[in-house]
Amino acid sequence: MSANTEPTPPESLFRDAMSQFASGVTLVTTRGPDGQAYGFTASAFSSLSLHPPLVLVCMGARATAYPVFMEATRFAISILAEDQAHLARLFSTRGTDRFGDPAIFDSPHGLPVAAGALARLDCALETRYPGGDHAVLIGRPLHIDLTPGKPLIHYDRALMGLDHDG
Ligand SMILES: Cc1cc2nc3c(=O)[nH]c(=O)nc-3n(C[C@H](O)[C@H](O)[C@H](O)COP(=O)(O)O)c2cc1C
Repeated sequence: MSANTEPTPPESLFRDAMSQFASGVTLVTTRGPDGQAYGFTASAFSSLSLHPPLVLVCMGARATAYPVFMEATRFAISILAEDQAHLARLFSTRGTDRFGDPAIFDSPHGLPVAAGALARLDCALETRYPGGDHAVLIGRPLHIDLTPGKPLIHYDRALMGLDHDG
């Protein structure tokens, strides 16, 4: 289609525009076939459908755990609370011991999730779609836990709480 050959704005402008979209922050986790835990920080998370309930998360193909997530049939989402910026950083920094953190424990489906997260969703993989240099993982929640609190926000390339006044 000719639309695919039309020029696009510079990458820096695209990044600047995306930085103006405020979002929550999640940890996306799974286990490999050997039981080893894998996970990464993701703000590209969304509710997708209500009937049936579905969520989606976008995962970069260059992430260490990408091949594992491309085989996984289950994954978990932990929606981080405002005091969990350290977990967002831990799960986005290469070479860290992500699962040694005391907040991480096993969900009912045996997936690593974060204590204190506002919501934890164990999901069955429904489908995956390619999306440029990312893949879109679509999951159907199997189990949900809630913890009251305020969310961690990602906005303008920074992590903050809702009460942040700039
Ligand atoms: C606030 C924040 C949001 C992020 N959102 C995403 C995302 O939605 N999808 C993604 O693939 N990576 C996202 N990342 C980057 C990944 O967490 C990071 O690239 C990944 O953990 C790579 O490290 P690894 O290869 O050591 O796992 C985000 C990072 C941060 C700090």
